[in-house]
Amino acid sequence: MAKSTRHPSKLSIVGAGAVGTSLAYAALIRGSASVISLYDIATKKVQAEVKDLAHGTQFTHSVVMGGDDISVVKDSSVVVITAGAKQKPGQTRLDLAATNAKILEQMMPQLLEQAPEALYVLITNPCDVLTVVAQKISGLPTAQVFSTGTMLDTSRLRYLIAQRTKVAQRNVHATIVGEHGDSEFPVWSSANISSVPIRDWSYAGKRVFTDQVLEELAHEAAFAAYEVIEGKGATNYAIGLAGARLVEALLSPTRTALPLSSVLQGYYGIHDVALSLPTLVSSAGIERVLEIPMDPTEVSALHRSAEQLRASLTTLGY
Ligand code: 2OP
Repeated sequence: MAKSTRHPSKLSIVGAGAVGTSLAYAALIRGSASVISLYDIATKKVQAEVKDLAHGTQFTHSVVMGGDDISVVKDSSVVVITAGAKQKPGQTRLDLAATNAKILEQMMPQLLEQAPEALYVLITNPCDVLTVVAQKISGLPTAQVFSTGTMLDTSRLRYLIAQRTKVAQRNVHATIVGEHGDSEFPVWSSANISSVPIRDWSYAGKRVFTDQVLEELAHEAAFAAYEVIEGKGATNYAIGLAGARLVEALLSPTRTALPLSSVLQGYYGIHDVALSLPTLVSSAGIERVLEIPMDPTEVSALHRSAEQLRASLTTLGY
């Protein structure tokens, strides 16, 4: 992939709503990119958000720009798409598919004109479905169009395990794969805490992670967003941080493994569906989807997740 017209470190964020602005703020504080550009069609809103962020740049190392003109995304290294309808309490992510696919179909060609060589990251839900839509309509290689997928869900799961064991999150190695949504699941067969298989982790002579506990944790991580949406109308901070971390990985030559969603061609027999799996990324985009061992129950769960997503894509005509 030629990279000549990419700015060395320009992150463009499409959508100045709660998620887009939280990502901008997280990226600004973390110094994820040297230029952070925010684009939205809502003129007053985007101008106000850009000003508010820019007014804090004395205390950061990045430049903030943006507006309602699509040219603000020109020559980005990474474009993160957060624009679209969000879940109302009780709605699933897949309920948003038709509305948000339409928005994306309109927007993607305009973005490509400005930043043909950028890496495109979908955050708008249903992110797995929209990753396929974006990849198909753009014709870009699958390495260039993908989604944060279950990065956030995995972080939720690791947080819950860390809370229960009082062990630092960085020592918890557990990953959620599949749809970023109701059919996702943790790969418990390889989950471990500092090399101790999760099912063997004990406290005061008793195993902590019984089948029931594992089931509760999986459910809590998968359905956490519903609770947050019920309480405050949206989830934004955690996805902002996850997005910023991904951008850093995408601006680095080093390959980083993250649970991301990309269009699969033959993984465990899955074709033309995007879902999350541990994936190596770098400034070249997706380098490799890792072939991880799964037990037969997990393989079945992965196929169930793929079927759900395929059904949604078929309804949309993809
Ligand atoms: C989340 O999981 C709603 O997809 C969003 O927080």
